[in-house]
Amino acid sequence: MATDGSELGINTRLAHSGNNPHDYFGFVNPPVVHASTVLYPNAATMAARSQKYTYGTRGTPTTDALAHAIDALEGSDGTIIVPSGLAAVTIPLLAFLSAGDHVLIVDSVYHPTRNFADTMLKRLGVEVEYYDPYAGAGIAGLIKPNTKVVFTESPASNTFEVQDVPAIVKAAHAAGAIVMMDNTWATPLYFRPLDHGVDISIHAATKYPAGHSDVLLGTVSANADCWKQLCETFYTMGCCAGPDDVYQVLRGLRTMGVRLDHHQKSALAIAGWLESQPGVARVLHPALPSHPDHAVWKRDFSGSSGIFSIVLKGGGQKQQHAFLDALRIFGLGYSWGGYESLAVPVFLGDRIVAKGPYDGPLIRLQIGLEDVEDLKVDILRGLAAAAAV
Ligand SMILES: Cc1ncc(COP(=O)(O)O)c(C=O)c1O
Repeated sequence: MATDGSELGINTRLAHSGNNPHDYFGFVNPPVVHASTVLYPNAATMAARSQKYTYGTRGTPTTDALAHAIDALEGSDGTIIVPSGLAAVTIPLLAFLSAGDHVLIVDSVYHPTRNFADTMLKRLGVEVEYYDPYAGAGIAGLIKPNTKVVFTESPASNTFEVQDVPAIVKAAHAAGAIVMMDNTWATPLYFRPLDHGVDISIHAATKYPAGHSDVLLGTVSANADCWKQLCETFYTMGCCAGPDDVYQVLRGLRTMGVRLDHHQKSALAIAGWLESQPGVARVLHPALPSHPDHAVWKRDFSGSSGIFSIVLKGGGQKQQHAFLDALRIFGLGYSWGGYESLAVPVFLGDRIVAKGPYDGPLIRLQIGLEDVEDLKVDILRGLAAAAAV
């Protein structure tokens, strides 16, 4: 069976979308095509480029299988596959911004996105401005005649504010700007940006789609209006991903629904429990009813994933480091979305608006697939160590 039918349940679609086994002799998985050269049957076909595959950088049956699977999940007209989540941010920005244009980027954005904007985009003559994650419809007041792109990421990196994406889309479109969204946290299973009017949906497939902390990959999905320009830029940049990595992500997609469900349940159990721990001032997880953005999250999202932050009750870097150094199951590492739990110190020094104040230092937790009780014991070790400083 191969179907992209949206009437089917999500796990059925994840198991079967992207490729038709009978296109390749019935093998369940698509071939991993290692390719630069593609042969043409004759000169006329070569001149007209009138065959499906023309060169390795422009797509193979392996990249098509993943792109079609993502299109089915996102409801997009086309998807490009790039070598990292960061490339999935930078390529669409390069595709739609030129010298003299103005871009609005949410202040709580993933730090390397900010770094790209502050270095490369500014050097290319793009005017970069950061906005409050709570701007909502008020973003209209920041839009200028030369605003071409509004860049959103929701929930926010590290601090998990939820943006009012539909209100931002309405204001941006009224002014002729397009909206891009880094949707890595929710995956298309829990939020479908294009259904909310977003033009371009961005994913670090490195996280939940890959799921095993061993692959870097990005996907960018566009609606009909933006697909041609995105795809042309992708071809122009030559920024294609390696076939083994593409295959690994397609493989990861098959189990992503089951894994995410487990991440979601464990993260919620731990986040809720953390709210009543004495050393914790706040838990920044939008699916908790206590979160200030819970209503917006509930309106727009159909689930939550496995990453959130905690605010320690008082203290500073010493307490933060004591917490982290006491952990034995949680690893200290920056990526997320894999099967293993991770913790990182949160740094808000790059923020202009969305920087608190908070009652103490922040720690971001990625809840993996381990047993919740073991993770709680580990966190208690961290809290005890922070309290002992
Ligand atoms: C929200 C978000 N977007 C993009 C990326 C970049 O992904 P990659 O590590 O594949 O470059 C990350 C990585 O942590 C991320 O957290």
